Amino acid sequence: MSFGNRFVLVSLFLGFSLTRLSYSNQVVLLDTTSVLGELGWKTYPINGWDAITEMDEQNRPIHTFQVCNVMEPNQNNWLRSNWISRQAAQKIYVELRFTLRDCNSIPWVSGTCKETFNLFYHETDEAHSVKFKPPQYTKIDTIAADESFTQMDLGDRILKLNTEVREVGPMTRKGFYLAFQDIGACIALVSVRIYYKKCPFTLRNLASFPDTVPRVDSSSLVEVRGACVDHAEERDTPKLFCGADGDWLVPLGRCVCSLAYEEIDGSCAACRPGFYKAFAGNTKCSKCPPHSISYGEGAAICRCETGFFRAERDPPTMACTRPPSPPRNLMFNLNDTCLMLEWSPPGDNGGRRDLTYNVQCKRCGPEPDQCHFCEEELRFLPRPSGLTNGTVTVMDFSAHANYTFEIESLNGVSDMSSFPRQVAIVTVSTDQAGPSLVGTLKKDWASPNSIALSWQQPEQTTLLILDYEIKYYEKEHEQLSYSSTRTKAPSVIISGLIPATWYVFCVRTRTPAGYSSYTPKYEYKTTGDSSDIASDQGQVLVIVTAAVGGFTLLVILTLFLLITGRCQWYFKAKMSPEEKRRTDYQNGHAPFPGIKTYVDPDTYEDPTQAVHEFTKEIDPSRIRIERVIGAGEFGEVCSGRLRTPGKKEIAVAIKTLKGGYVERQRRDFLREASIMGQFDHPNIIRLEGVVTKSRPVMIVVEYMENGSLDSFLRQHDGHFTVIQLVGMLRGIASGMKYLSDMGYVHRDLAARNILVNSNLVCKVSDFGLSRVLEDDPEAAYTTTGGKIPIRWTAPEAISYRKFSSASDAWSYGIVMWEVMSYGERPYWEMSNQDVILSIEEGYRLPAPMGCPVALHQLMLHCWQKERSHRPKFTDVVSFLDKLIRNPSSLLPLVEDIQSLAESPGEDMDYPMFISIGDWLDAIKMSQYKSNFMAAGYNTLDSVARMSIEDVRRIGVELIGHQRRISSSVQTLGLQLLHEQEKGFHV
Ligand code: ADE
Repeated sequence: MSFGNRFVLVSLFLGFSLTRLSYSNQVVLLDTTSVLGELGWKTYPINGWDAITEMDEQNRPIHTFQVCNVMEPNQNNWLRSNWISRQAAQKIYVELRFTLRDCNSIPWVSGTCKETFNLFYHETDEAHSVKFKPPQYTKIDTIAADESFTQMDLGDRILKLNTEVREVGPMTRKGFYLAFQDIGACIALVSVRIYYKKCPFTLRNLASFPDTVPRVDSSSLVEVRGACVDHAEERDTPKLFCGADGDWLVPLGRCVCSLAYEEIDGSCAACRPGFYKAFAGNTKCSKCPPHSISYGEGAAICRCETGFFRAERDPPTMACTRPPSPPRNLMFNLNDTCLMLEWSPPGDNGGRRDLTYNVQCKRCGPEPDQCHFCEEELRFLPRPSGLTNGTVTVMDFSAHANYTFEIESLNGVSDMSSFPRQVAIVTVSTDQAGPSLVGTLKKDWASPNSIALSWQQPEQTTLLILDYEIKYYEKEHEQLSYSSTRTKAPSVIISGLIPATWYVFCVRTRTPAGYSSYTPKYEYKTTGDSSDIASDQGQVLVIVTAAVGGFTLLVILTLFLLITGRCQWYFKAKMSPEEKRRTDYQNGHAPFPGIKTYVDPDTYEDPTQAVHEFTKEIDPSRIRIERVIGAGEFGEVCSGRLRTPGKKEIAVAIKTLKGGYVERQRRDFLREASIMGQFDHPNIIRLEGVVTKSRPVMIVVEYMENGSLDSFLRQHDGHFTVIQLVGMLRGIASGMKYLSDMGYVHRDLAARNILVNSNLVCKVSDFGLSRVLEDDPEAAYTTTGGKIPIRWTAPEAISYRKFSSASDAWSYGIVMWEVMSYGERPYWEMSNQDVILSIEEGYRLPAPMGCPVALHQLMLHCWQKERSHRPKFTDVVSFLDKLIRNPSSLLPLVEDIQSLAESPGEDMDYPMFISIGDWLDAIKMSQYKSNFMAAGYNTLDSVARMSIEDVRRIGVELIGHQRRISSSVQTLGLQLLHEQEKGFHV
């Protein structure tokens, strides 16, 4: 019997509203909801599947196929699609939407009714009239409904629509058929959508990337090179990687807008009028500099306004400028032998600083047309052109001549202007009455170190005498130096002379027309004798000797201190951190003499210097990114290959810094490389180098095939021998010994931060964040505001941030526990707060199942409250070495000893993680040890079951003490309960 028609009617009346979603990363090969005409699918036998076409609210067809022969046994009804072209797909996705009737809701069909159907496909190059032969078809899957509906649902008009998606691939032929096999279910196939995924056309970093079909292998990426958008040019080759889900990953390289174009919303737009861009790059167009303009769009440079110019070497960013105005206040001073021209700078320097002056001379005869240029006849000091100061001295002029001097100011654009040049002009007649001369000098009186001189005022002077200038010098030193002084009166007293020394004096007048010539020289030897000088010199000598002596002493003292090393603080203050480190090391201040010490990159004023010092820059063309293996705080982590000239290509992990970072993020990202670059040890992850000079910034490290230790162990639960696990622990301890010898404290030692290679070698990693722990999902904020991975951290580091190699040793104990429990979470689901409380009260993690006693004892040793009692990593390494050399030492397991101890009449040899005494000490209730012992409570197990009455009964009388003990007992009780639930014997 067929239920077909009843079912059909119901489904159609309920009227599904089929949402038609479109995804940019899907290329649809077939969607039955968008086929307007007949679908033309074939059914075998003819009365199996029913094809029904209904219209939805928008009058679009819904092609539904239904079958419901649930009462008849041995159903084999096939529905086959038309031939579907594969196009570019390598893997296709088939999305089916269907309803399915719950067999239990149909009476009398228990033997015949089914709740699944089968999906098949057949690849073929032939598009037409292929005969349907079921054996040619390959099964994709049996499809079951997540939700089936019942008669009641029908009554309530609820139809439960199922959506199932199946992947098929790799596909190689031109096309394929789909087939649906019903074997006795009550199904309505409401829609079939077949699509493949692509990374859709995209624009990134000003490059366009075409539609790209991902690889079938879901973990490998397709590398796609981008093409720069219009008006952009390549900087680093733009690349993207197309992931299996049609997502673009890891943008590398970039294009930048060409000159005259700027980036706007991911494309390059021409600069607006009034703006320009002179260079290609990711800068914006700039406003035209002063006195320049760009009229149209897309200017690489702005044109100068009329009258303004740009010199050949002026950058396009500079304002346009113009020639300067003429010099101002041109004056001359003429005396017997020389003419001095002086002027002030122009009022307008044209907007430039390269101001110079040229002097042109014209000499004219009595007639005005008898002029000629005269620079050749005269001597100009320093020169007649290219003057940079507002003064020039002219010599060798003739008497009784008229000279005209034109002073022109020039700058870098003077030659470009066609305007007539403007000059300052002065005419000098050498007939002009020169300034009056002074008569001869007369000594009025003298002492060994001073002299009074006077002279006659010039008679009949036409010019105003401004003052007199007296020049004097030691006769012996005439060529070297002289002194001068001025006076308005015709007399002067000169002091400060050296006794018994020959001096030369002369005087000249200054009038508005300049200086007169000097009087004839007047020579005079000061009085006094050389003993005056000797006594003066003697004093000087004493002072000089003392000074020299003192200085010598200072030098000797400094040298002495230097040799004995006492002055080093001074030099150290000026050293780079690396130099400091070396000095510390030479002085034996290193944490472990003979081993390099670690330098904190944060001690560098400029952290990029630390990157330069400790890492190698890698040319990105040597790196081939292959696939994305994870996501870090800063960007994707990829695997790939690194080529090094003359070496074998190696597998590497590449951490990328995603775009849009700020400088602090770049610094924090590279901090890890600066730390890692200082280490060289087989159990520390090796840094290959960094890429900082191109985008994206990358850190390249050795590749560790088995990824992080915690997930590796979880994936291989119970797969390793104890010796193999101890080998891993030995490696980690050895890496940690190296780090602690270098003075480096890790702060986040945990199995998730250990990487494992293909030989099971474990290496410590994750250094960059050890200071701030921002990236660790386990890190939680403490009451003091720090972010700390509570379960892995020693109590003193949680309470007051006392991180040390001893706190790393505590974390190492937790890593041991993680390893021996194959990646179990320390303290399971206890809250961080409970972990802190129970540690404080003396509780320690029990041995994982199958854990040798020796290893659990080492863990407990690492978890001593007093940090100085914890083992050093060097002790851990030698202890583990001994266990490896003597494997029988690993045979006693904690649970064996515990079951022995539980045998009646035997003392417990290794019963607890701590004793009752330790527990009472921890909760500061030591005074009750004897009460517990006397009452027979000698295991934590028995204590864990105590009620507050029991506590009272054993003689704890103070209510506060009763409460403290019972609350601790409760914590213990919970933990022990947890152990028992997990099958541990405590
Ligand atoms: N994940 C992070 N770093 C890795 C490495 N070096 N090797 C493998 N997987 C990693």
